[in-house]
Amino acid sequence: MEKQSIKLGLMGFGTVGTGVVRIIQAHQEDLQKQTGLSIEISRILVQDAEKSRNISFMEGTLTTDPASLLDDPEIEVIVEVIGGIHPAKEYILGALERGKHVVTANKDLMALHGAEILEKAQEKGCDVFYEASVAGGIPILRALVEGFSSDRIAKMMGIVNGTTNYIMTKMSQEGAEYSEVLKEAQALGYAEQDPTSDVEGFDAARKMAILATLGFRVPMKLEDVDVKGISSVSKEDIAYGKQLGYEIKLLGLARRDEEAIEVSVQPTLVPKSHPLASVNGVFNAVYVHGEAVGETMFYGPGAGELPTATAVVSDLVTVVKNRKLGVNGRGMVAPYKEKVLKEDSEKFSKYFLRIVVADKRGVLAQITQLLADKNISLEQVIQQPFNNGREAEIIMITHMSSKSDMDAVLAYMAQMDIVSTVQSCYRVEGGDK
Ligand code: NAP
Ligand code: HSE
Repeated sequence: MEKQSIKLGLMGFGTVGTGVVRIIQAHQEDLQKQTGLSIEISRILVQDAEKSRNISFMEGTLTTDPASLLDDPEIEVIVEVIGGIHPAKEYILGALERGKHVVTANKDLMALHGAEILEKAQEKGCDVFYEASVAGGIPILRALVEGFSSDRIAKMMGIVNGTTNYIMTKMSQEGAEYSEVLKEAQALGYAEQDPTSDVEGFDAARKMAILATLGFRVPMKLEDVDVKGISSVSKEDIAYGKQLGYEIKLLGLARRDEEAIEVSVQPTLVPKSHPLASVNGVFNAVYVHGEAVGETMFYGPGAGELPTATAVVSDLVTVVKNRKLGVNGRGMVAPYKEKVLKEDSEKFSKYFLRIVVADKRGVLAQITQLLADKNISLEQVIQQPFNNGREAEIIMITHMSSKSDMDAVLAYMAQMDIVSTVQSCYRVEGGDK
């Protein structure tokens, strides 16, 4: 007799796991219409089976024994929403080894061990989908793999971390200092008690490595991403940025020129007229420039119980549809292009510079000469008295410079008698394609 249902094992029953159960319960009829099968959650793996759960679910499904999911031949799909590297990695590889399909929301794991997991899936003819791992509820991975399959992506810019975008938005809207806003975000539960992964850009870097791998079809690794977080961004940087017509965002950038690629996460000035400048609060957005389609942008919630769970359950629907068509394990295109990373001399952008200098005749001329020696010209300049008029603060937006030239300028400035401090140096993006 033909199967009426598909059984899944849910690993993790926290924020996302709870959302997955809610969506499957609430949308069962629609899911069944789309896939032809009802989706049945056979077992739910947790750490603490005694914990009270704010949701009704079938009695007897909770377990602390992973083998009761992995070794159950009736369970065809494992949904991993435990998080972290271990034991999630072993569970996923174990599931694939046994021929089970996998859906995961785990960006840490996919950014670090995605290649190994996808290889195992291919070997076993299984599906692995991980839409929820980047930008939560925004269906960006499917868009890159399917929607852009006929195009060549030249550039992606992403606001892919809600915590830092909340902090940067508050700093911009209220003129507040980073440390004040971080404390408030922690008190409200938006930021973790240990916020390092978010504020130092590591979470966004993992997501950008995943986006770049899928968008450029090259095997990008986490260590290929240049990372700088927001902890050194001051309210003065933001205020001067605004005065010059920009917002500062923690921006993930993935750019391809010919075959050479650069991927970074760093505080970046974006023109106020650019759609990314008005992505505020905990929202995420990914801007994608395809050579044929031009500019596109995907916007929405980057986290949260139901938004993230919709991405997980949509992946599940794809697994079930693939099963019906007999094409599991054949939908993924493994990265097939050689990875060519740009040298610093090939990474071009405009820059925002804020420096404190001696307030003496000829100082501005010396600074502009130093930049001119590296072929860097200026687009905008503000000079203000600083330190009760004893010094001056110069704020500049340059025209295009290579990263290596800008690094050389900064190293030279740090040794100049007339320069007291180089306060800030950020990239400026979004004015071109
Ligand atoms: P969470 O609320 O902390 O839930 C984790 C769940 O996993 C809990 O049910 C916990 O069990 C269970 N668990 C943890 N370690 C386990 C172990 N060793 N064995 C068995 N069960 C274990 O996490 P979450 O926020 O749902 O996140 C899950 C995943 O989704 C992560 O990879 C995260 O990066 C990703 N993600 C989350 C969001 C979001 O908005 N939260 C958005 C995008 C992606 P107990 O319930 O018994 O403690
Ligand atoms: N810590 C992440 C963020 C959660 O702030 O965006 C979603 O991955």
